[in-house]
Amino acid sequence: MSAVESLSLPASPARKIIVAIDGPAGAGKSTVARHLARHFGLLNLETGAMYRGFALKALRQALPLDDSAGLEELAGSTQIRLEAGDDENRVLLDDEDVTGLIRNQTVTDAASRVSVFPAIRAWMVHLQQEMGAGGGVVMEGRDIGTVVFPHADAKIFLDAAPEVRGMRRFDQLGEKPAVQPEDVIRDLHARDERDRNRADSPLKPAEDAVLLDSTNLSLEEVVTAAEEIVAAKLAHESSPTGQKK
Ligand code: DC
Repeated sequence: MSAVESLSLPASPARKIIVAIDGPAGAGKSTVARHLARHFGLLNLETGAMYRGFALKALRQALPLDDSAGLEELAGSTQIRLEAGDDENRVLLDDEDVTGLIRNQTVTDAASRVSVFPAIRAWMVHLQQEMGAGGGVVMEGRDIGTVVFPHADAKIFLDAAPEVRGMRRFDQLGEKPAVQPEDVIRDLHARDERDRNRADSPLKPAEDAVLLDSTNLSLEEVVTAAEEIVAAKLAHESSPTGQKK
């Protein structure tokens, strides 16, 4: 269950800030996180990829995805590492690069299932806290602002109407063999329900998160809005009346 991070900063950030981006699938978190990372010179860490990497291992071992004790035992002999890259994170599962294997629907669904178990979450949260401890990161997920970094410098909760998120996901699918938009929207809805209603760290906005609804915004508008939110938070914090300095 150990994880040693070997991350190098792409650019030296002005300050070692932590930006938390949470929200449901298809809201645009990855795009926004990638942009903010570039803009503010931060490492972009995508925590969903860690759950996906672990889910892949469980699937490979044909472990039932509701076997919490079995999953916990498996976690004990698993190493998950994230390496920040320019465009996407590289995911190393027991030193194997599985980046290209974790985006299909089976792994997507399995990731949502394994992530309901407190022992798995505690393990992941610990790894994520280690990775972000030095600051200079934008971390994206479901519980970053609520659990992983409740004292993050800026928190954004990115949301959009389910149909819009579903259509975005559908458009992202390169090959669309027999998949209909309705199928994608239905899967996304099921995952939303699970992520929002699990007992441990359900997906919800932190009290001090800024809500950003991207339903009627273009990509450019979302990115600009997110940039302004972070810039405003940082300006406030460094002002004489701000709480943090
Ligand atoms: O962001 P994503 O779609 O790659 O996440 C895959 C699943 O992992 C998601 O359905 C729920 C889980 N997850 C989580 O529980 N907590 C996180 N911080 C990130 C992802």
